Amino acid sequence: MCTLDVTPTIGTERLVLRGAVRDDAAALAGLLNDYGVASMTCTLPHPLAAEDVEDWVDRSMTGDWSREALFVIEHRSLGVVGQLGFKLNERGRPEVGYSLGRPYWNRGYATEALRGGLSWARREWRKKLVFAGHFADNPASGQVLCKAGFLYTGDVVLKDSRARGQPVPTRMMVWLA
Ligand SMILES: CC(C)(COP(=O)(O)OP(=O)(O)OC[C@H]1O[C@@H](n2cnc3c(N)ncnc32)[C@H](O)[C@@H]1OP(=O)(O)O)[C@@H](O)C(=O)NCCC(=O)NCCS
Repeated sequence: MCTLDVTPTIGTERLVLRGAVRDDAAALAGLLNDYGVASMTCTLPHPLAAEDVEDWVDRSMTGDWSREALFVIEHRSLGVVGQLGFKLNERGRPEVGYSLGRPYWNRGYATEALRGGLSWARREWRKKLVFAGHFADNPASGQVLCKAGFLYTGDVVLKDSRARGQPVPTRMMVWLA
């Protein structure tokens, strides 16, 4: 049987990935209420309402971590810089997604957080593979996924973006543990 801590914590060189607490809501809202962030994700609306962030925090705090594991990404000295989440999709396949606040882009944090998260997914979540997709017009995320060891499957599918209000061609990738 696979058992999980209620709120797992993942430590990397510069970051800690941990379950959310209520006090994270304001920092997350400040980072994620940005069209340039939301428009690169399927799930983030724009503008982002306080209830949207509170719902995410609630899911991180009280959800079933064997199905959906939502981590706040906290820099050891800078504080909250973003979020990363694993979930089982409608086909029961593990998927990962993440977003960093714009002030923290291009410092290697997403790659470091994703590598840490994948290590947790292999060792604790006991997954042998994880899927991800990035919008075709988001090469930075493709680069993050490649650096973390994902490979392109060759599939390009249309995925809805809540912020854009339309489907976006999405390049699918897979990581093998
Ligand atoms: C995509 C995102 C997570 C990247 O976070 P990050 O912390 O800046 O990522 P990293 O610093 O670890 O790596 C970024 C890489 O992309 C590269 N990059 C940045 N902009 C790029 C661009 N326009 N084209 C190609 N590569 C680009 C960087 O050079 C770096 O690669 P390198 O280390 O080989 O030089 C961040 O920009 C973000 O949150 N964007 C909005 C939300 C989002 O896209 N989420 C992912 C949905 S799939």
